[in-house]
Amino acid sequence: MTLGGGALALLLLMFVHAGSQQQAAEARGDAFVRVHGTHFVHNGKPFFVNGFNAYWLMNLGADNAQRGKVTSALSQAAGAGLSLARTWAFNDGNRSSALQYSPGLYHERTFQGLDFVLSEARKHGIKMILSLVNYYGDYGGRKQYVDWAKKQNQIIPSDDGFFNNPVVKGFYKNHIKDDPTIMAWELMNEPRCESNVTTCRTILQSWITEMAAHVKSIDGNHLLEAGLEGFYGLSPPSRSSVNPPAHDKAGTDFIANNLQVPGIDFATVHSYPDKWLRGVDAQSQLRFQGTWLDAHIADARAGGAAEAPAGG
Ligand SMILES: *[C@@H]1O[C@H](CO)[C@@H](O)[C@H](O)[C@H]1NC(C)=O
Ligand SMILES: *[C@@H]1O[C@H](CO)[C@@H](O)[C@H](O)[C@H]1NC(C)=O
Repeated sequence: MTLGGGALALLLLMFVHAGSQQQAAEARGDAFVRVHGTHFVHNGKPFFVNGFNAYWLMNLGADNAQRGKVTSALSQAAGAGLSLARTWAFNDGNRSSALQYSPGLYHERTFQGLDFVLSEARKHGIKMILSLVNYYGDYGGRKQYVDWAKKQNQIIPSDDGFFNNPVVKGFYKNHIKDDPTIMAWELMNEPRCESNVTTCRTILQSWITEMAAHVKSIDGNHLLEAGLEGFYGLSPPSRSSVNPPAHDKAGTDFIANNLQVPGIDFATVHSYPDKWLRGVDAQSQLRFQGTWLDAHIADARAGGAAEAPAGG
């Protein structure tokens, strides 16, 4: 989700990496969301996801004067039958509103804001997807991480160094909470690598693989997803015809980034037909949307997966 607005449809596509460990945990009836076969499962029952995006929850939660809006939003959502919210668990940079104001240093008040969001979500029966960093510069994002490393004398030619500079990767790994209200972690909001079409796909695939393994090594309970918009790459190259115009160079590969990474439990798709196909009539945007969703659903199924629409 960019902050510029635009209608976002979010689709979660689940891939099957469920092992016996998860099945045992499920038998215990614990409260974490699991994947089982082609379904999300919660407390041993199929969990049907009806979700929404609300990137701003933590910041309002950290402000006593605005906290009530968090409660009100979650309460209205629960009343409308929604069961999942996706939000930012990041706000990076040396500002009073930040979560992480310097690498590994956090404002306690903002953490309390995030705790408040989780506690209100739990009260209203809403699970959360927490995104760990932004690709965009809003709320600090990848650029802030790179700037922090540059201050430590790292030479990083482009912000895509976020994905392979060892100091930046260390900062990222250092930023991770354990709560069943969290349905899933998201590695990054809309990761892209665009500085070099030759190397970017490998760099991004390696980063997702390394960070997925890292998150699972310290938190095996929560589900994990990469945060992709869903642009196709080279597997197979013919699939790029599904991409919106001029979005082939994002450096992502929907199939490889999700299916070929063991720690990734389900896939995500974002869709902004109004922004990606600007100036095109609504009927054509709607047709694009249909094709975009059908293709991802088919690929998820082919990978042994099921789909769970999660918002709009
Ligand atoms: C944050 O910025 C202030 C100046 O605005 C500076 O005094 C302080 O040292 C900075 N803190 C960090 C951790 O960079
Ligand atoms: C992209 O990376 C390749 C391999 O490292 C290099 O040969 C090429 O010069 C790079 N291209 C650009 C535009 O930086």
